[in-house]
Amino acid sequence: MKSKSLLLAIAATAFAAPNCPPLGPVFPKPTNLASSPEIRAAIETLTTIFKDRDNDNSPSVLANSTSWSIEIFSTNPNNPTVFEWHHTAPELAAATGNNSFGVKKIDGNSVYRLGSLTKVFAVYTWLAQDGMDKWNEPITKYIPELRDAAERAKSANDPVKNVPWDQVTIASLAGQMSGAIRDYGLMGEMTQQYSQEVAVALGFPPLNNSDPTLPPCGAWPLCNRTEFFNGLLQAHPSYAPFTSPAYTNTGYQILAYALESIKGKSFETLMTESILRPLGLNNTYYVYAPAEVGPIPGNRTDSGWDWQLGDENPAGNMFSSVSDLSKLGRSILASSILSPSLTNAWLKPMAFTSELYAGLSTPWGVRRIPHPSYTPTTAKRVVDSFNKAGRIGYYSALLTLLPDYDIGFSIAIAGANIPGNTNFNLADILGKHLLPAFESAGRKQAAEKYTGLYVAEGGTNSSLRLTTQNDRPGLGIESWISNGTDMQAVSVALAAGYTPIQGSIRLYPTGLETVMKDGKSKKIAFKGVYEDIGLGARPYEDNMFSTDCGTWVSFTGVTYGTHALDQFVFEVDEEGRVKSLEILALRSVLKKR
Ligand SMILES: *[C@@H]1O[C@H](CO)[C@@H](O)[C@H](O)[C@H]1NC(C)=O
Ligand SMILES: *[C@@H]1O[C@H](CO)[C@@H](O)[C@H](O)[C@H]1NC(C)=O
Ligand SMILES: *[C@@H]1O[C@H](CO)[C@@H](O)[C@H](O)[C@H]1NC(C)=O
Ligand SMILES: *[C@@H]1O[C@H](CO)[C@@H](O)[C@H](O)[C@H]1NC(C)=O
Ligand SMILES: *[C@@H]1O[C@H](CO)[C@@H](O)[C@H](O)[C@H]1NC(C)=O
Ligand SMILES: *[C@@H]1O[C@H](CO)[C@@H](O)[C@H](O)[C@H]1NC(C)=O
Ligand SMILES: *[C@@H]1O[C@H](CO)[C@@H](O)[C@H](O)[C@H]1NC(C)=O
Ligand SMILES: *[C@@H]1O[C@H](CO)[C@@H](O)[C@H](O)[C@H]1NC(C)=O
Repeated sequence: MKSKSLLLAIAATAFAAPNCPPLGPVFPKPTNLASSPEIRAAIETLTTIFKDRDNDNSPSVLANSTSWSIEIFSTNPNNPTVFEWHHTAPELAAATGNNSFGVKKIDGNSVYRLGSLTKVFAVYTWLAQDGMDKWNEPITKYIPELRDAAERAKSANDPVKNVPWDQVTIASLAGQMSGAIRDYGLMGEMTQQYSQEVAVALGFPPLNNSDPTLPPCGAWPLCNRTEFFNGLLQAHPSYAPFTSPAYTNTGYQILAYALESIKGKSFETLMTESILRPLGLNNTYYVYAPAEVGPIPGNRTDSGWDWQLGDENPAGNMFSSVSDLSKLGRSILASSILSPSLTNAWLKPMAFTSELYAGLSTPWGVRRIPHPSYTPTTAKRVVDSFNKAGRIGYYSALLTLLPDYDIGFSIAIAGANIPGNTNFNLADILGKHLLPAFESAGRKQAAEKYTGLYVAEGGTNSSLRLTTQNDRPGLGIESWISNGTDMQAVSVALAAGYTPIQGSIRLYPTGLETVMKDGKSKKIAFKGVYEDIGLGARPYEDNMFSTDCGTWVSFTGVTYGTHALDQFVFEVDEEGRVKSLEILALRSVLKKR
């Protein structure tokens, strides 16, 4: 007996299993960013790193020939720009003669080409104009050429050869799940880039000039709609729809045709009306940005500055500045154009990729970041980031959104030889320092505001104590008495259905807030998560199916007279001070001491 209880005690203090918070932020999003010591320290570190990088001409940076602009933006009205850095390559500043177009000193308004980052503008335009109502409709409803092709495909009964366009939905095109071809005649089409002699020397067979699969158009001349569909419909699918992610630029061209047909206006007009003008994105161009506003390495031809993609513009043609990208990112995070629920639906994955940490959405790549502030035995805390990169000519760009903190990164790069992955490498540097800083700033601010003793008035023996721990997510319930009963033990046992080895209750923000009639004071709802963390961690490699992180299944699993035992509502006064905590199931309001 004695040795058994001793073992339990050891397991208890060892905190063997991690906490499993709900998906999303584990603390209220930090505010007062400029006065947070953690965030200031991170900014100082980044400043040192970027000062050094300005002089780093090693092959992975090439600071002499590569220029870049970086902003860390936030939706916080007091700190819209958390950090910015602009590097003008000495070669750009020194360029003369025919190589001297464009800006010679880079700042937040310098305009870069975006390549595929354009797709964020394209989906945003669709959602602002039409929401997700048609998301699951077949594209054939809006594109007659594809309707005919779907009919032919049905009678041919040859899935290897034909895309079943009637099963390709709007969402599958936006989310790269249509299985169709990446480009037609444009990027990657060798016959547009090399002569027949070169192709034959490379091992390809000669193609007859009248071969219908030989694109008559592409990079030059641009394909018109007829030519595009004539060519596209000769291409075999990679996959059947919704089988496996396969990136397509053509999908965005088709989406634009569809929205144009639904709304009866050009895609450029739709984007200008719903996104560019309302957000005041005056440094953003759908086509033909003037050379004076951009860093142009080499000349306008070599850099790809003047190159236009024609009907494939919605997939990759645009130009913007990091200050405008930050405005765009803020507006998405703050739901300034879309409703909050539409934004939330947009910022969720649509499919996995073969990389464990990555999924995709429309058009986001979703990167799931195990939070560096925790270890496998303290918390399974994952931060989902939504990223869209682009590369075209001498340009590369990246927009990153981190909804857990309402911040994001805008990154744009120009150079004749941009080292591979520079855009994501810059995000790696930012994230490494910002994620721990924002997490501890959030923890500290939550501690100041919410922790302490909450006590029932009127003589009932009911109280609850909230704390934070440096290695744990959320607010911890340290003790909890309900009318003389140890509710901490009772509630975990009720939630688990057995007597736990080591109970843990932690509270996490749900995002549900009610602004009271005075316009300032609030009710703020938190979710309580009941866990037995004495069970031992279950590393992935030994546990194919079982998990120590499935808490979402039991939310509101214990109710008393309809009201959930795990829903906690704080009352906050007009100064932002927490006054009380309501525990719905217990019908009790505890005043903060
Ligand atoms: C960097 O660029 C400047 C200006 O073009 C040039 O004078 C200098 O030699 C370059 N340095 C290196 C290391 O390439
Ligand atoms: C500079 O541009 C002009 C006009 O575009 C062209 O005629 C000339 O050959 C160019 N010079 C060089 C050195 O590229
Ligand atoms: C090229 O195609 C045309 C028309 O189909 C045909 O008459 C001609 O014989 C072909 N030439 C070769 C070299 O295959
Ligand atoms: C597209 O281009 C082809 C070939 O140049 C031409 O015959 C056709 O009229 C064009 N179609 C449209 C809609 O402009
Ligand atoms: C953008 O341009 C419009 C029209 O010139 C102007 O009214 C607006 O203030 C500008 N917005 C910004 C953010 O510069
Ligand atoms: C651009 O620069 C290249 C050399 O990099 C040169 O061959 C070409 O003629 C230039 N084009 C123009 C329009 O100046
Ligand atoms: C507290 O418990 C007593 C019995 O011990 C009961 O009579 C009373 O109604 C309870 N009060 C509340 C507020 O739960
Ligand atoms: C309140 O209840 C707790 C738990 O049963 C008990 O330890 C404590 O002495 C009680 N306090 C008062 C003032 O009765």
